Amino acid sequence: MVTVVSHPLVQHKLSLMRDERTGVKEFRELAAELSLLLAYEAMRDLETEPQTLNTPLVPGEFPMLSGKKLALVAILRAGLIMTDAIVQLVPAAKVGHIGLYRDPQTLLPVAYYNKLPADIAERRVFLTDPMLATGGSASAAISSLKDAGAASIKLMSILAAPEGIAVIERDHPDVDIIVAAVDSHLNDHGYIVPGLGDAGDRIYGTK
Ligand code: URA
Repeated sequence: MVTVVSHPLVQHKLSLMRDERTGVKEFRELAAELSLLLAYEAMRDLETEPQTLNTPLVPGEFPMLSGKKLALVAILRAGLIMTDAIVQLVPAAKVGHIGLYRDPQTLLPVAYYNKLPADIAERRVFLTDPMLATGGSASAAISSLKDAGAASIKLMSILAAPEGIAVIERDHPDVDIIVAAVDSHLNDHGYIVPGLGDAGDRIYGTK
C-alpha cells in the first residue's frame, strides 16, 4: 500500500525542498521536519495499551505505546537525515544502517555495509531513503532486512517515482510505502522529475 501524505504542511515543505535556491542548511532542516511528519503518518497504527497512572488530579488509565519495539534503518547516506530526525520522536528505537552501491558491470545493488539491531526480527522496522527512484536500492535493502528476520517493514521516502513504487510493489508487496509525493517519472540518469535533485548532495553540500 502506498500512502501519500498530502497534508498542506508536508506539501509546502516539499515545494521548498524542490526549489533550487534552497541552500544546504534550510534543505537539511526541511528534510528533518518532513521526516517527522511522514513518521507521524507511518506510525499511525502503532499499538497502545491503557496504563494506570495518576495525573495531578485523579488516577486513570491512559494509552501508552505497546506491542513490538521499533527499529529505524537508514539507507546510506541520504537516509541518515531521516533516521536522525525520527529518533527524536521515538528515542527508544534502535537504529540500523545499510550501505549499497551499484555494481558497474551488473548494475545491481551490492551491500558494502550492513549493521542492524540483533533483535530486528522482533521489531517493527521503518526503512528510510529520501528518494525512491529506481527502487533497486530500497528493494535490496528490504531483502537484507528480511534475510535478517524482519517481518514488519515500512518504507519511508520523501519523494518517489512511479517506477520505484512499481519495483517495491512487485518485489515486496507486504511492505507499505509512505511518501510526501509521487512525481512524474525518472529521467535517463535515474533522477526523479520534477524531483528535487540529488538528495544526498543537497543534504551534505557535496557535488
Ligand atoms: N536519488 C536522488 O537523490 N535524486 C533523484 O532524483 C533520484 C535518486
